[in-house]
Amino acid sequence: MEFTIKSGAPEKQKTPCLAVGVFAGTARGEVFDALDRASDGALATLLADGELDDKAGASLLLHAPAGLACQRLLLVSLGEAESLADKPWRDAVASVARYAANAPFKELVFALAQVELPGRDLVWRLEQCGRMLADAAYRFTLHKGKADKPDKGVSEIRVLLSARAGDADKRALERGQAIAEGMSLTRDLGNLAGNICTPSYLADRARKLGKEMKLKVEVLDRAAMEKLGMGSLLSVAKGSAEPPKLIVMHYKGAKAKDKPVVLVGKGITFDTGGISLKPGAEMDEMKFDMCGAASVFGTVKAVARMGLPINLIGVVPAAENMPGGRASKPGDVVESMSGQTIEILNTDAEGRLILCDALTYVERFEPACVVDIATLTGACIIALGKIPSGLLANDDALAAELLAAGQASGDRAWQLPLWDEYQELLKSNFADMANIGGRYGGAITAAAFLARFTKKYAWAHLDIAGTAWLSGDAKGATGRPVPLLSEFLIGRAGRD
Ligand code: BES
Ligand code: MN
Ligand code: ZN
Repeated sequence: MEFTIKSGAPEKQKTPCLAVGVFAGTARGEVFDALDRASDGALATLLADGELDDKAGASLLLHAPAGLACQRLLLVSLGEAESLADKPWRDAVASVARYAANAPFKELVFALAQVELPGRDLVWRLEQCGRMLADAAYRFTLHKGKADKPDKGVSEIRVLLSARAGDADKRALERGQAIAEGMSLTRDLGNLAGNICTPSYLADRARKLGKEMKLKVEVLDRAAMEKLGMGSLLSVAKGSAEPPKLIVMHYKGAKAKDKPVVLVGKGITFDTGGISLKPGAEMDEMKFDMCGAASVFGTVKAVARMGLPINLIGVVPAAENMPGGRASKPGDVVESMSGQTIEILNTDAEGRLILCDALTYVERFEPACVVDIATLTGACIIALGKIPSGLLANDDALAAELLAAGQASGDRAWQLPLWDEYQELLKSNFADMANIGGRYGGAITAAAFLARFTKKYAWAHLDIAGTAWLSGDAKGATGRPVPLLSEFLIGRAGRD
């Protein structure tokens, strides 16, 4: 997607399509009023007849509107002016984005960024528009034949502002695009079939990303992990013919002595459950069990594209969880890199087993903070549904920062408690801990397990089991939580 910013009178825009926001009621907004005057009141008459629903995001497409230079006018409802807030504004932008993604023309003039929104400045609005419009154009075609790759949709968006744009405005739009580009990588990796997207494939993809973005990339193989004593991570890969990898990507945007932010992403390229085999229904969706890893790839890419002045390290433990003659069995005991021993009571609780060794490994980077991202528990979906990601942390300031980044980006998270009492549920009669905590509070006991490996730094955990992909007709990776993480890192870098 190509973006440019322009200023000028809306009625004079010579374009295949002009998209405009309209308020419900009589005061419909400045841009609409200008267009209505140029059309001799024809637009107001149409709306008075009830042609456009008042609900934010509803739309009305007019062809060859009289008195206007555009070929098409897309009117999009913003709801009541008094109740304008992030949600209705986003609904309206998303509505244009959806239409543009399938439109039979290439260029569109977009007049919604200039709509004033309480508490949100132009820079914020431009970043959000850049991201949402670019992301809506995403299509997964890597597994489709040539005939099935339609060349549809808008590819050039001209963002119409009432005044000339400054440097900060242009940068905000570019940031939005960079985040969408990161999301696109995250969605591609998530959507790829499990037989293609293996741990080795992810390692190759990291090397490629390293070349593209000038990152240092290291890949530890099984032998290197054995040397480090990563008995927990390695135990998960034992049932599979695919060798495990530990992928490390270094982005250096600040001074060498500046402590890095470290992201750790769960990279189970397929989760059968192992010997604690999952039921068959919807098991195909367990190819998405590497979406945490994919979000680390996408965020590293977005940050490198933006050139943020921070140091960022992306770490991906990658393995395939399969049943097999050498697979871990319920009751097996393994020793983690930290020296703590783990009784594997359920081989389907494998995410925490690969994450715990990665979380010990990253101590060597003396991180400013560590955020892990994982499709960790079905229990998180039961607790929160599929709207927010689950957030648990050992540091309140870090948790608050991530929650705020979720709000600002519309990619929200919701915090769950991580009190000491939960630790008792991980008791094992045979090892330092069990890898499951019983029937209740599964998202929390999973995080409580990880908390035993993160005592040396400020740490937060995002459980994205409910947010990383959609099921049903719209089955596919969402690219979340790349917007949240990117916003968090933009904040860490200090805006501008
Ligand atoms: N990858 C799954 C979690 C998951 C399940 C995410 C369904 C999204 C949809 C994870 O490895 C898992 O299997 N977790 C178990 C843990 C249990 C055995 C304690 C779960 O959630 O059932
Ligand atoms: Mn599992
Ligand atoms: Zn899993």
